Amino acid sequence: MCGIIGYISQEKGVSKKIIHNLKKLEYRGYDSSGICLLKGNTFLVKKSVGEIAKLEQKLNFVDDFDCGIAHTRWATHGKVSLKNTHPHLSQDKCWAVVHNGIIENFLELSKLIKSKGVTLKSETDTETIVALMALQNGDDNIKKLNEVTSMLVGSYAICLLHKGEHALYVARRHSPLYIAKNDNSCMVSSDPVTFGEDYGTYYTLPDDCMAKVTVDKIDVYDKNLNKICVKPSEVGSFEKSAELGKYSFYAEKEISEIPKVIDTILSNYKIVDHFKKINKTFYSQIKKVKLIGCGTAYHACLMGAKYIQNYAHIEAQGYIASEFRYSKPLIDKNTLCIFVSQSGETADTLLSLELAKNMGAKTVAVVNVPYSSIAQKADVVLPLCAGMEVAVMSTKAYNAMLLVLMLLASHLSKFTESPQQFDYDVLKSVDFFKDVQKIDPITDLVLKSEKVFFIGRGEDYVTALEAGLKLKEITYINCVSIPSGELKHGTLSLVDNKSLVFMIATDKNLLAKNISSASEIKARGGKIVLVTNLDEIQSGDIDYVYQFDKITQKFSSIISIIPFQVLAYKTCLRLGYSPDKPRNLAKSVTVE
Ligand code: F6R
Repeated sequence: MCGIIGYISQEKGVSKKIIHNLKKLEYRGYDSSGICLLKGNTFLVKKSVGEIAKLEQKLNFVDDFDCGIAHTRWATHGKVSLKNTHPHLSQDKCWAVVHNGIIENFLELSKLIKSKGVTLKSETDTETIVALMALQNGDDNIKKLNEVTSMLVGSYAICLLHKGEHALYVARRHSPLYIAKNDNSCMVSSDPVTFGEDYGTYYTLPDDCMAKVTVDKIDVYDKNLNKICVKPSEVGSFEKSAELGKYSFYAEKEISEIPKVIDTILSNYKIVDHFKKINKTFYSQIKKVKLIGCGTAYHACLMGAKYIQNYAHIEAQGYIASEFRYSKPLIDKNTLCIFVSQSGETADTLLSLELAKNMGAKTVAVVNVPYSSIAQKADVVLPLCAGMEVAVMSTKAYNAMLLVLMLLASHLSKFTESPQQFDYDVLKSVDFFKDVQKIDPITDLVLKSEKVFFIGRGEDYVTALEAGLKLKEITYINCVSIPSGELKHGTLSLVDNKSLVFMIATDKNLLAKNISSASEIKARGGKIVLVTNLDEIQSGDIDYVYQFDKITQKFSSIISIIPFQVLAYKTCLRLGYSPDKPRNLAKSVTVE
């Protein structure tokens, strides 16, 4: 979603550096961008709707600015327009601001601001922040910022410029913000991926804190205006791992990295004991497990719940984070809550984690971004080791989530009477992309159909859900995923001779039931593509069989999604859409 860059330097000509780094945030999703540069008392603001490249074209002036803020906006309050694009200036033109997050009480604040005779020009919640800054009295800008942030309800990461000052003012609540410094510059960013080239370390601004950033120093304050000390973190290999290399799109690159990611997880979990805190005492205190996430991560939660229930014999259930938060969940110290997230910043997942912690649950984070808020707040972190994921469509992170959750389930099973010892090394010899070229004719079938369905039973139903999400999010094809057994309870009425049904079948024991679902579809004229690793398929009702590498039933859930990831990617290219940046979606959903 929205991205922030703030930059202050001893040297002039900062716009190039700012735009270069703003582009590194493009992957998060945005619909407009803007920059505000400051030199002494002069602000220069440029904005553009659409690609950052359009903003860049507007920067055709002699750049002798030494300080600036910039933003990529993903519209929440107010439509996509120049007027609503950040940065926003205060009416007296003394303050400029960029903001990520949502100010929930902005209508109330707008009324207050208007009652003081100030006009707001945009439809955004953000503009209220600079308007309030300008209304504060006194000379101490940190005090003013504290006053203003104490009035804000909701989430924010903000970066401000003040006329006449060579400084950046920043603050955050529930929305990440980082600061890096070298000998002649400081950069503020909503994502440390921007620090890799110029900085060795960076600071994470703590929640509910503020800072004044100059070229010489970073002063951080808590909400009681006490100066606080923040430990620096190293800029690691994760932040530097976003190169596209030989690939045309990140989606293609990230799908192709799945075997490497699986290998890395297996090696990493052998070397590092990530389960150290999850010992026998920990296990004996768990009465139930709740797995919480959104989108693809939610599907991983559904699968993880099956692994934990089957292998560790503890009642486990997957929840959509935005539902979980408002479901009055029954949680106590005997509940293990597992938060699954690629970005580690998804607002609903993060807020669910805070809720669970406050209710006394044990918390585990299964996350990819090592410095993320969810990773920082959970009791135990199980890293996904997937490297940076840039494409909005999550692929390699999903396979990684399943493997890490399976490792956790088999670890928990050690404390039961029937420990499950899996030979994970089998995964190293799998041909993950076996017969992947056979997906081209299936793409034709998808493009010829009017309706697409994904069905399966047990773990295969979860794969059906994830397969449907992959296809719809980057091809905009409307599709339905349901358990096979539910077909005749309603959805079968949709099936006709323009329908294509993907049936996922990896469990021998459920094969007969799947075959009878196939007959029901065939009888209504639907075409069936069976995706399986089984050999025993003998049914005249199946139109096309896609067989992926034979792997033991235990691991098939980790592999069976790959053909669907490839199918979505190939179909998207055939339709001429962008596989990396689907419309209306953002990589990191940092607002509720
Ligand atoms: C789908 C997708 C989204 C994310 C969801 C959660 O391909 O990417 O559904 O899975 O927004 O994001 P994280 O995993 O970052 O919490």
